[in-house]
Amino acid sequence: MSVGKRVGIVGAGNVGATVAYSLVMLGACHEVILRDNKIDVARGKALDMSQAASAVRSHTVVKVAEEMSDLINCDVVVITAGSPRLPGMSRDDLLMINAKITKEVIQGVAKYSPDAIIIMVSNPLDAMTYVALKESGFDRSRVIGMAGILDSSRMAAFIQEKLGYGGGQIRASVMGGHGDDMVPLPRYSTVAGVPLSDVLTDAEIEEIVERTRKGGAEIVGHLKTGSAYYAPAKSTAIMVNAILKDTKQIYPCAVLLEGEYGFNDVVSGVPVMIGANGAEKILEVTLNEQEKEMFKNSCESVQGLIDTLKTNNFFDGE
Ligand code: LAC
Repeated sequence: MSVGKRVGIVGAGNVGATVAYSLVMLGACHEVILRDNKIDVARGKALDMSQAASAVRSHTVVKVAEEMSDLINCDVVVITAGSPRLPGMSRDDLLMINAKITKEVIQGVAKYSPDAIIIMVSNPLDAMTYVALKESGFDRSRVIGMAGILDSSRMAAFIQEKLGYGGGQIRASVMGGHGDDMVPLPRYSTVAGVPLSDVLTDAEIEEIVERTRKGGAEIVGHLKTGSAYYAPAKSTAIMVNAILKDTKQIYPCAVLLEGEYGFNDVVSGVPVMIGANGAEKILEVTLNEQEKEMFKNSCESVQGLIDTLKTNNFFDGE
């Protein structure tokens, strides 16, 4: 009997636990292993989810890793560990705190699950994906950041709200980093194939673009004690499922650019083909001058964070 697929999740907080729950409901893999410093919380959630699995007759079992060394031979490892955004905090405020956590966690992943594909979820997302790349030493195809699916889903939901119709038929496109200068692309967004500009005014489209950029903060503002988790977790589960099932479907994801779009050694969100080998192909979309400028600004923001880490001698041996 072949050994089933195993997915490790580091951080069993709201996002990590909801990723696990989504995978259990999908029956996406044989095992989900939760790792959290709060071991009892992880134990309780694992039991609860295993029982939910029984309820829906899913074969997925949820276990707990007491140590990083228990997170062994995973096919995919999702990293949600880190401090979440609190009201008034930008994603970038989390830079140094979460970079240290990410470094430690990734060293464990590289040691105990050396063949895994890593999906980064911790913020600031693009910079943490860069840290994970450097600390794992993995090929860029095996370190992918989750953000584009989330941001484009938010944009689609805002379009649906504005229109009052078209739910489930909206394709919204967002590129660039997962920051305040992300790049929503109305020109590549449609409702059942109809261009956005045929159903909404310029002012309405601009309002949707702005709301998308601030989509995370809007939810933090309501929740007050933390940030969004249903949509971030579902977006992550979609990526995990695409890898495990080798779907070769296209999703906006954060990857290291090596010349694509004219950028090098920086992580940004671009359309990526996801399959069993991770980010198997990067697609280069034709951007107009204004879109290019926005993409450049977004890459420069991420570069600024990476430079801050470098200035603080964060990366060993550099
Ligand atoms: C968000 C935060 C988690 O976008 O980045 O919801």
